[in-house]
Amino acid sequence: MNQDQLKQIVGEAARDEVLQLAPGQVLGIGTGSTANCFIDALAPHKAHFAGTVSSSNVTTERLLKHGFKVLNPNDVASLPAYVDGADEIDPAGHMIKGGGGALTREKIIASMATKFICICDSSKQVPILGGFALPVEIIPLAQGVVTRALQKLGGQVSLRLAKNTRADLNQTPSEPFVTDNGGWILDVAGLRIADPINMESQINQIAGVITVGLFAKEKANILLVSTATGVERIIL
Ligand code: A5P
Repeated sequence: MNQDQLKQIVGEAARDEVLQLAPGQVLGIGTGSTANCFIDALAPHKAHFAGTVSSSNVTTERLLKHGFKVLNPNDVASLPAYVDGADEIDPAGHMIKGGGGALTREKIIASMATKFICICDSSKQVPILGGFALPVEIIPLAQGVVTRALQKLGGQVSLRLAKNTRADLNQTPSEPFVTDNGGWILDVAGLRIADPINMESQINQIAGVITVGLFAKEKANILLVSTATGVERIIL
């Protein structure tokens, strides 16, 4: 099975998982290519849910295109589940997220949910987090101060740049990537995150940080992971 097929089967497994929830509730929906497979698989069953809460503008667009109702998180008190992918997940269910830049809204929606259902293929499972550069969303004017603080933690920090959208003009990206919230993202390579809870709280305390893409407090509760032989369901 190729990567796309692995994403598709885990998206379908997540659909089956959430269809076991009592009907008429609101579901939290993540961002990324695996979350997209889940949205597409769930679309024919959208009537099972009273609506969705979305973690990014791109996810909102996709949900609306499929005819899902998308609610403002401020109008929703709690969610039975939040379904999203991850860039890395450790054996305890702590994750690195934010490769797609939606970490802040993802963490907000995850904090509203009773269960975090993480969906990924087995390439995302690691013994210790940190191989994937840790995304940290910041207030733009704090770039210098946050960069220095993250370097003190032992990371190599780089400002995420906007994707080259004009390949036809052979442009090199030089503008910062800007999040849905107007923030910038620092990607921190070279961290070996043996204590994710402690690292998350240390980075949260740096002035100018909006959100760190370390999901230790908001960790996964259920992991659906696809391999060449099928999807495994792990309770964390
Ligand atoms: C989006 O900001 C991320 O947190 C994604 O959930 C994560 O990067 C996984 O994305 P893929 O499913 O595309 O690998």
